Amino acid sequence: MSLILALETSCDDTCTAVVDGAEVRSNVISSQVAAHERFGGIVPEVASRHHLELVNPVVDAALAEAGVGLERIDSLAVTRGPGLIGALLIGVSTAKGIAAAARKPLHGVDHLHGHVAANFLEPDPIEPPFLCLIASGGHTLLAGVTGHSGYSVLGQTLDDAAGEALDKAARLLGLGYPGGPAIEREARGGNPAAFEFPVAMRDDPRLDFSFSGLKTALLYAVRELGDDGTLEHRADLAASFQAAVVDQLVAKLRRAARGGSRRRRSAADAWDAIALGGGVAANSLLRERVAELCEVEGLELKLVARELCTDNAAMIAAAARYVEPAPYPDYLAWDAL
Ligand code: KG4
Ligand code: ZN
Repeated sequence: MSLILALETSCDDTCTAVVDGAEVRSNVISSQVAAHERFGGIVPEVASRHHLELVNPVVDAALAEAGVGLERIDSLAVTRGPGLIGALLIGVSTAKGIAAAARKPLHGVDHLHGHVAANFLEPDPIEPPFLCLIASGGHTLLAGVTGHSGYSVLGQTLDDAAGEALDKAARLLGLGYPGGPAIEREARGGNPAAFEFPVAMRDDPRLDFSFSGLKTALLYAVRELGDDGTLEHRADLAASFQAAVVDQLVAKLRRAARGGSRRRRSAADAWDAIALGGGVAANSLLRERVAELCEVEGLELKLVARELCTDNAAMIAAAARYVEPAPYPDYLAWDAL
């Protein structure tokens, strides 16, 4: 097998991993939540500075945990984009530096390909073809995965990403950052039917998503309730909001699995298997509802561990296996994308 050392710094987590074929030998994530919490969201410049401080120790930790020295690594991999440009640059520069010093090849990886490729890791890797819902803080899309090296976009959000909507809702409800897990926690004590929030696009034949109307609906509800009323009904608001986000994601997955197509291109292929990726795929309600969907429709289901849903470098190594690496010194001219 071939050992890959991967770095991922596209957002606010400094991530490194050592992966041997499909086997994760180490997967280190240094979260910056504490640094961004007081701002209620990610501050790009703060993220870059933290990556700079954390990246070398986190590389050392990944090697140490895997029990290998750099000399044993066959190639390096790094997320080149999309993401926060300053944050990406720290990972790209570091990977270039380490790879060049050791005269190793370097794979440049697309972040979203990484989220798809998390499903190729042990245990129980899934083989294409499958339909993959990627729902994160920056993206929400349905990917048709017919090979290991990429995917085609069957539909995507027309405005906010699902994770972005959850983050904004959490801020509105005073639940802090990151919003997805905070909404999930608060929702446990709430009634998902207490507020009727719109599930956009449910009856739209396309496979696209929209979350901005839902966000506005929550804003109006909060205004109407006032501060005290919002606090009193916070669990119900969180549960109802989460349910509306999940309803839309599941409705589109169902439509896509049955062979619904983007912009009436053709009565496109139906799919036999569904996988999830991105931070929102860590959500328990979504995981339950997708499992139900697969049961009812007779589809194979692949759910990776939660720590492989949110940003991590193991998924970048998983994708790198299917991306031709650039030899030394060709990658020295690389920029973040
Ligand atoms: O994939 P990811 O870690 O970073 C991006 O590529 O954006 O996704 C982060 C997003 C955030 O919006 C966060 O609130 C959301 O994933 N998220 C969740 C959960 N954990 C993270 N959303 C719902 N439920 C969760 N348990
Ligand atoms: Zn991500």
